[in-house]
Amino acid sequence: MAKESYAFTTPIYYVNAAPHLGTAYTTIAADTVARYQRMNGKDVAFVTGMDEHGQKVADTAAANGMTPQAWCDSMEPAFRDAWDMLRITYTDFVRTTEPRHARTVRDFWQRLFDEGWLYKGAYEGWYCVHEETYYAESDLEKDEEGAFVCPDCKRPVQLMASGEENWFFKLSEFQQPLLDFYEANPDFIRPESRKNEIVSFVSRGLKDLSISRSTFDWGVPLPFDEGHVAYVWADALLAYLTGIGYADPDRPGEFDHHWPMQYHFVGKDIIRFHCVIWPAMLMAAGMPITHTVFGHGFLLTKGEKMSKSKGNALRPADLVGVFGVDAYRYYFMSDVQFGHDGSISMERMVQVYNNELANTWGNLVSRVTNMTKKYFDGRVPEPPAGAEANPLRDEAAGLHEAYDAAMAQVDFTGAAAAVQRLAARANRYIEETEPFRLAKDPERADELAAVMYNLLEAIRIVALYMAPFAPATSATVFERLGLGGIAEVDDIAAASAWGQLPAGNAVEVGDPLFPRLDVDNLPDFE
Ligand code: MSP
Repeated sequence: MAKESYAFTTPIYYVNAAPHLGTAYTTIAADTVARYQRMNGKDVAFVTGMDEHGQKVADTAAANGMTPQAWCDSMEPAFRDAWDMLRITYTDFVRTTEPRHARTVRDFWQRLFDEGWLYKGAYEGWYCVHEETYYAESDLEKDEEGAFVCPDCKRPVQLMASGEENWFFKLSEFQQPLLDFYEANPDFIRPESRKNEIVSFVSRGLKDLSISRSTFDWGVPLPFDEGHVAYVWADALLAYLTGIGYADPDRPGEFDHHWPMQYHFVGKDIIRFHCVIWPAMLMAAGMPITHTVFGHGFLLTKGEKMSKSKGNALRPADLVGVFGVDAYRYYFMSDVQFGHDGSISMERMVQVYNNELANTWGNLVSRVTNMTKKYFDGRVPEPPAGAEANPLRDEAAGLHEAYDAAMAQVDFTGAAAAVQRLAARANRYIEETEPFRLAKDPERADELAAVMYNLLEAIRIVALYMAPFAPATSATVFERLGLGGIAEVDDIAAASAWGQLPAGNAVEVGDPLFPRLDVDNLPDFE
């Protein structure tokens, strides 16, 4: 039987600069979902990519003395390498300059043209190149000199009143259909606070949207008017379709399998595009919509949004160099509640690392493997007969349900807390059962074997549920338990049922998974 689809996307990122912690945050969140849903038996489609067209990228290329295409090509390794370093398992990486994507854009807008959703008109109004967004004059702010600036990034806006003829999409006709849609699909926008923002925005009325430009050519030409290129958002959103094989003769059946999707993961800065323009485009094309747009919060350093332009953007490699990939991923997923803004700091990162990874998870593995070596010659002992009280089995019994419920809500913090509880319980169990004391008493050998088996089995289960967050260390733990194949697990509920660790398996000790870090010896990145 074909596996059920679980399809979702990150934004496709502008290539005016290399990835930073903010873009990595969305991408790691999506990867955590990808890894968990694979372990849950789903056929995952995970689309990411690069947003290469538009004026901002063209300007950046010019400022670097390069053609836009050469500039974009030069940025691809920066993105791919960053995602490889962070062990991101995307299934497609869409570049909007690829011919297959131009085919999507042309096909889609031709469809809307044929259906009568487009008309030609003159655009007069304001545009912010940095945000690649049109603004009504009433939305603008003024700087100290009284000049209009962008309400989002506070940069100067451009007046577009050259008599330029553009193609317009009849977005205004979707006001009521969108409001009805939000009402009928309460999960379309999450979290709830973002939904209120969108509903009130749409309630104020929608203007038709200019979807083409004729004053520059860095974009996909529209098939019904080749002198016009698609507006960058009218191009970029469609990468979500390209990434699952829309109109792609080389990928038969794939699009129908993966559309409609489960999620678009985006930052809260771009929810209007995803919650207003995009569903209207899909409705106009007659395509079903069942996904959720999850608008997560911003990462803040010292109370400010991190961004490339503010210069407070740390590079993922800086943190990976200090903490390692798994700890990096774990910190951002567990400590910043998905959906809320979250302050990040080196101090806090060290604290989470030392408490949850070094002292709880890593220490558990090293204590238990060391004792196994010492007391059982590095072999998994026989499991207990089964009837006696077993607090670890009891704790593990509730884990799948709690973790899965949290993951279904993309509550990474909740899922991480659920698995931490089992690891912490296992450490406490060591204090309670005192295997080092049992080992001194030959009469209690069976008790010692039972305790050690329970601990090793708890470790196996913790490794399974840590894997979406910290995949490399979980794979290492599996190897140390004489197990392989964590990457192939496709029924985590079944795999985590108690008692599957085979007695007699060779157990290795190995280096500490997360050596303790000393905060005084770390460089300050902020
Ligand atoms: N190219 C558009 C998206 C098109 S999607 C069809 C774009 N690109 S971007 O490079 O500016 O990336 C924006 C995304 O990066 C945000 O939506 C968010 O996912 C992520 N973040 C950028 N800075 C961030 C923080 N400081 N904190 C968290 N996420 C942030 O917009």
